[in-house]
Amino acid sequence: MSICDPIGLGVAGLGRGFMLTLPSLRHDPHVRLVACAAPRQASRDAFCAEFGGTAYADVAQMCADPQLEAVYIATPHQMHRAHAEAAAAAGKHILVDKPLAISQADADAIVHAANQAGVHLITGPSHSFDQPVEAARRLLDSGQFGQVRMIHATNYTDFLYRPRRPEELDTNQGGGVIFSQAIHQIDVVRALMGQPALRVAAMTGAWDRTRPTEGAYSCLISFAGGGFASLTYSGYAHYDSDAAQGWVGELGHPKDPQAYGKARRALAAVTSPAEEAALKGARTYGAVEAPAPAPYAEHFGPVIISCDRADLRLTPEGIEIWGDTQRSFQPTPPDPTPRSPVLRALYAAVRQGQAPLQAGQWGADSLKLCHAILKSAQTGGFVELS
Ligand SMILES: NC(=O)c1ccc[n+]([C@@H]2O[C@H](COP(=O)([O-])OP(=O)(O)OC[C@H]3O[C@@H](n4cnc5c(N)ncnc54)[C@H](O)[C@@H]3O)[C@@H](O)[C@H]2O)c1
Repeated sequence: MSICDPIGLGVAGLGRGFMLTLPSLRHDPHVRLVACAAPRQASRDAFCAEFGGTAYADVAQMCADPQLEAVYIATPHQMHRAHAEAAAAAGKHILVDKPLAISQADADAIVHAANQAGVHLITGPSHSFDQPVEAARRLLDSGQFGQVRMIHATNYTDFLYRPRRPEELDTNQGGGVIFSQAIHQIDVVRALMGQPALRVAAMTGAWDRTRPTEGAYSCLISFAGGGFASLTYSGYAHYDSDAAQGWVGELGHPKDPQAYGKARRALAAVTSPAEEAALKGARTYGAVEAPAPAPYAEHFGPVIISCDRADLRLTPEGIEIWGDTQRSFQPTPPDPTPRSPVLRALYAAVRQGQAPLQAGQWGADSLKLCHAILKSAQTGGFVELS
């Protein structure tokens, strides 16, 4: 596909989040990388060698670059507000990697800054942009299966044992699975349910004293139309729920079952938090090659949607439809790379004025649910969402 006027995009932060979106940024015609901001000279040099453009050490300076129309913010959670405000002040559209922020005040400030500047704000990529989720939304919107009554989303990973920066293991600084992983499940479930969330009841687990933050949760969410969803996640898992997804990993690549235990083995060799942060930093842009384009859609674990006249199960290849009297399978249309939908969404917003579901207030509302999970787990009761 050729697009005559791709969006000039600047990237803030060339770490792990950027690396995962990079295959799509390289291949998708809706965007053109024109600048980056990153503290590491080696990353900046690698960016210029691959994309040309201009590399900055400072995000605000990059935002002033007239070549840029939009900024993709892939810096650590705690920096999202400052970087989004810098983009808004320079009149650039904003794509913020999830979560929009850590505190609700910061999320609200980002939404306010984008509104005041009259720029588009999209929170993503999150797994709510995955092709099977988008295709399921279209099927559900058609009304052929009746109302969505219940959604069950689970994911069992080794998230907590992948190399982390110290703040990623401190809940008060946005660490743990709630801000980094629940946010995906929340986005997926909200997108599929298509109604405002009303109440949350949750329990969380912080079971490993050496990694003192939440690594697991189970939560129930009720929605305005009477539907409800259950979300369960374990980042301590030994079981790998990718096994139930045909051994396709989260990023849409075939997964080698023989690589079992790899994250825990690598972490066992680490002797200090600084060494662990360096191990994470070693997987950054310019230091290692980004993942190849993936042959399947990305996913965030098994998701089953129960409707009046069918249950729908999302897989990395499409949607299993278990109807009243028949079963069928709807393949998801192939995309150049799994993260293309979020880039297409940015293009549609900026060029055609068609904002996606995950625009503006969306990211702040999903964050509210993260805080509600933590609060419910602390108080032992339901948390009402205003
Ligand atoms: N959507 C996804 O699947 C996904 C996956 C991983 C990370 N992320 C998100 O990406 C964000 C970053 O997390 P990460 O895991 O990539 O962390 P990371 O540490 O790997 O990367 C962060 C990068 O930001 C850079 N940085 C730090 N301060 C900066 C500054 N002032 N200006 C410019 N760059 C700066 C660092 O050098 C680093 O390269 C988080 O919000 C995270 O949730 C999203």
